[in-house]
Amino acid sequence: MRTQVAIVGAGPSGLLLGQLLHKAGIDAVIVERQSAEYVLGRIRAGVLEQVTIDLLDEAGVGARMHKEGLVHGGFDMLFKGERHRIDMNRLTGGKNVMVYGQTEVTRDLMDARQAAGLTTVYEAVNVQVHDFDTRNPRVTYEKDGKTNEIQCDFIAGCDGFHGVCRASAPRSAIREYEKVYPFGWLGLLSDTPPVHEELIYANSERGFALCSMRSQTRSRYYLQVPLTDKVEDWSDEAFWQELRLRLDPDARNQLVTGPSIEKSIAPLRSFVTEPLRFGRMFLAGDAGHIVPPTGAKGLNLAATDVKYLFNGLVEYYKEKSEAGVDRYSELALKRIWRAERFSWWFTSLMHRFPENGEIGQKLQEAELDYLIHSEAGSRSVAENYVGLPLDFGL
Ligand code: APR
Ligand code: PHB
Repeated sequence: MRTQVAIVGAGPSGLLLGQLLHKAGIDAVIVERQSAEYVLGRIRAGVLEQVTIDLLDEAGVGARMHKEGLVHGGFDMLFKGERHRIDMNRLTGGKNVMVYGQTEVTRDLMDARQAAGLTTVYEAVNVQVHDFDTRNPRVTYEKDGKTNEIQCDFIAGCDGFHGVCRASAPRSAIREYEKVYPFGWLGLLSDTPPVHEELIYANSERGFALCSMRSQTRSRYYLQVPLTDKVEDWSDEAFWQELRLRLDPDARNQLVTGPSIEKSIAPLRSFVTEPLRFGRMFLAGDAGHIVPPTGAKGLNLAATDVKYLFNGLVEYYKEKSEAGVDRYSELALKRIWRAERFSWWFTSLMHRFPENGEIGQKLQEAELDYLIHSEAGSRSVAENYVGLPLDFGL
């Protein structure tokens, strides 16, 4: 088989790139290790920045998001038992975010791909990337006991943190930066109305908590837990009890509990690969970087990587210029480091770090107190939360 761009991975990055390329008349094939059902079964964050909303519109998959997504103009920060609203909309001159689950984004992209009759190979075994240091790269995989080969101009490594593309880059050409946090997030999804109409990020002496949502009838809550905790240790009742203890009295009274639909623990990590290009192979999304989830930047960063890569590929095919693909890594990394900085900072501000002792907690509270009382401080939080523009600082 021959195509212009071979995309490895059918998560949001791969699917979005595939859809944008299709709209631009550029041919792509996606090869995915898992089944479509498996990909849709993963529960991830659900806050979209304006740039991501615009990109989904550009890809032609924004209709359901605009109908069902919840537009949020602010969020609450809770500390010392009191809630304070960050009025993002006012502080950023009218910008908002959209609460719409990553699972739904993925479903919309999958549906559009299927409707357009585009090729996605699911359950591909032993996917390998070859010859990306030449002008004729290849992707091979096994399916139904047969080995298949895709010849292409470029490989897009959209295969997530555990993918094969980054692992296939020459070790001597790659630099990785990593920080692993000493705790995880225990998440619970339930068909209960959200405790509040906007998100609540809570700093408490018992640890961080987050009250989020998927719709008016479905809630998503998180608790900071030690890495040694197992999800089996946490009954639904124990989860709700601990969440109550981390909230303010008002939210505690408002909280509606119910059986969990999903419960899982995710570790927190900051991770960046440099560069994001190895000859004719590019890394985009979680394949190149991970942010801790505080601030929900993961999906948004994946989307903007894809936008930069897409622009470069369009320039290559329409204008016969390699300038765009040559700039991809540098451009994407600038935005990635900014989001890494914000996600690390927000994580450090909101979580309990036992090794920092009581003074650590006091200093966090003082910083939070400064942020909510200073227009400049609040605006800095707001402008990062809604997302920096694509051309910020360029
Ligand atoms: N061959 C083919 N596909 C692979 C391989 C492989 N060797 N390894 C992994 N994959 C697939 C995975 O099964 C997955 O479906 O690549 C896909 C990568 O998807 P994601 O992990 O969702 O990564 P990405 O598309 O970049 O999306 C980033 O996901 O983790 C969140 O916070 C992150 O929201 C962000 C988004
Ligand atoms: C979520 O709804 O899953 C979510 C929201 C905001 C975050 C992280 C996760 O910062």
